[in-house]
Amino acid sequence: MSSFPESRGKNGSLVEGEFLFTNEDFQQIAQILHAHAGIALAEGKAALVYSRLAKRLRSLGLRSFREYCALVEDSNEVDERQAMMAALTTNVTRYFREPHHFDHLRDVVLPPLVDRARKGGKIRLWSAACSNGQEPYSMAITVLAALPEAANLDVKILATDIDPNMVAEGRAGIYREEAIAPVPVDLRRRWFKKPATGTGDRWEVADELRALVAFRELNLIGDWPMKGKFDVIFCRNVVIYFDEPTQERIWSRFAPMLNPGGTLYIGHSERVTGPATQIFETTGLTTYALRSGR
Ligand SMILES: C[S@@+](CC[C@H](N)C(=O)[O-])C[C@H]1O[C@@H](n2cnc3c(N)ncnc32)[C@H](O)[C@@H]1O
Repeated sequence: MSSFPESRGKNGSLVEGEFLFTNEDFQQIAQILHAHAGIALAEGKAALVYSRLAKRLRSLGLRSFREYCALVEDSNEVDERQAMMAALTTNVTRYFREPHHFDHLRDVVLPPLVDRARKGGKIRLWSAACSNGQEPYSMAITVLAALPEAANLDVKILATDIDPNMVAEGRAGIYREEAIAPVPVDLRRRWFKKPATGTGDRWEVADELRALVAFRELNLIGDWPMKGKFDVIFCRNVVIYFDEPTQERIWSRFAPMLNPGGTLYIGHSERVTGPATQIFETTGLTTYALRSGR
């Protein structure tokens, strides 16, 4: 990442405000984010970094970003590093985001898998950057529509994210009314209920949905401890934040995680690139399958 041509604020600060934030601080934060989460922080994001991290500095009682950088570089400060990454990553998600993927899952991918499950086989799906759970619960709703008895068969959805707060929210499965608005009304009635405690506009996922989805913390650029393979992987709107070599590595790592004929769904502005283009073929809009023989 190259340097900023010039600083803008007083004392060499990139951003005017209560904390000194130099180009070196920005570069150090970018380097930590890249090393730990694979995320390439674009130049010109100094104001965003400042605004997202200023409250961390305030709550820690620090006086400058230099002090903050020293803290997050400290190998004992895993929690603060995680808090920094959570503050700098975007968790934007939606129920049934990019709905054509769920149509494709229902119409093309699930029918043979449903037959297999009814004959005693397994179905495995993975939401590989699940944010607060709206993506894996959308997958679960789609699976249950095709296979209402899924809970009694060998059907599982793994939902992973680097951000422990998102994993906890997914596990809690409680959403504001506006979050569940994209869910068609009949499905909303069927799959969401008023939570036992709490008031207001909150809705909780039904137990049948919760039973299908297992939430875990997982860093896509780290080790993947899963032993079994998947029939379907959703990895949407996350690699867009990674640099090109990291994206290519992730695509290649998905191939051996998929069963023959398995399907990979990626985000609307993402493309499978690099050596994995030899392994995957497109079968729809931002939808890929392993080439036959793979
Ligand atoms: C923009 S959200 C996308 C959520 C969902 N897939 C969707 O399309 O609606 C990106 C998610 O990726 C997660 N993320 C960022 N870097 C990650 C990494 N290295 N490993 C796993 N998850 C990561 C973030 O915490 C965030 O929840």
